[in-house]
Amino acid sequence: MTRNSAWIALLGLAALTACSGGSDTGKAKGADGSAITVGFSQVGAESEWRTANTRSVKEALAEPAFHLKFSDGQQKQENQIKALRSFIAQHVDVIAFSPVVETGWDTVLREAKAAGIPVVLTDRAVQVPDDSLYVTLIGSDFVEEGRRAARWLIGDSAGRNGAIRVVELQGTVGSAPANDRMRGFREVIGQDARFEVVRSQSGDFTRARGKEVMEAFIKAEGKKKIDVLFAHNDDMAIGAIQAIEEAGLKPGEDIRIVSIDGVRGAFEAMKAGKLNATVECNPLLGPQLARLIHDVHAGTAVPKRVVVEEGVFTRDQAAAELPNRKY
Ligand code: AHR
Repeated sequence: MTRNSAWIALLGLAALTACSGGSDTGKAKGADGSAITVGFSQVGAESEWRTANTRSVKEALAEPAFHLKFSDGQQKQENQIKALRSFIAQHVDVIAFSPVVETGWDTVLREAKAAGIPVVLTDRAVQVPDDSLYVTLIGSDFVEEGRRAARWLIGDSAGRNGAIRVVELQGTVGSAPANDRMRGFREVIGQDARFEVVRSQSGDFTRARGKEVMEAFIKAEGKKKIDVLFAHNDDMAIGAIQAIEEAGLKPGEDIRIVSIDGVRGAFEAMKAGKLNATVECNPLLGPQLARLIHDVHAGTAVPKRVVVEEGVFTRDQAAAELPNRKY
């Protein structure tokens, strides 16, 4: 049993014990004497990563320790704001959410604060003038992920002379992972004069858009060679692979591809030789999120930022690593 699952089991046991001690609500009890009601607003279901993240959150925030009110924002900020307001109106104990974009949350977060409801950010950050509007953020270091992709590319380009022309598929415009991955990638690539990002456009983190935008890149570049694709997530890379094949080119060979997430689909593509590397972004945040919510609700001090540990995987590791992938 891992530390996380042991903790969840303990929490469940504590809740069950408290429940058998005379609850008349029928709900189990958390550490402070009642089940913790959590309002969770998810970004949407745009990627393999997101599906795994939703599953992890739902499993970890399950009865009897938690009572989860889950809302799917369908990648629209207005839907998420509506959900947060509804959670406030329902007086949930804790609000947790993964913000689709970074800006535009001040008003609703002030409303949550005024109602005395603590907010835990998960996965993505917000830009607010007052960081007391949320208690903590648990998620990946997206800037570092962009740097890792660039470092892999520089390593893989050893011995290559001349210009290396890169196209970039960005994630959702205005989202923390798109902003940060772009920044981290450029920070590192900018130190090597061979690399030039010749085209960069959003594919909204989806396969369908990744394919469409890659088709447009290939068409726009015409006879000019695209050497590398950097995709902000695996789903867009997988869509782009289709576009590259349909254009009569070999993904992974004619165009080297590095993307981010490390989902099973990426490992399958690497095994088939069509994707060169993926930078891990772990979506299985549920158990850690549950522990944070528990602590926040209990009034225990928590760190302002909890970063998830992650690695980088390449084609030669894909076959061995594939059976171990949990998402
Ligand atoms: O916020 C994490 C990002 O969101 C993942 O990299 C991407 O696949 C998802 O849609």
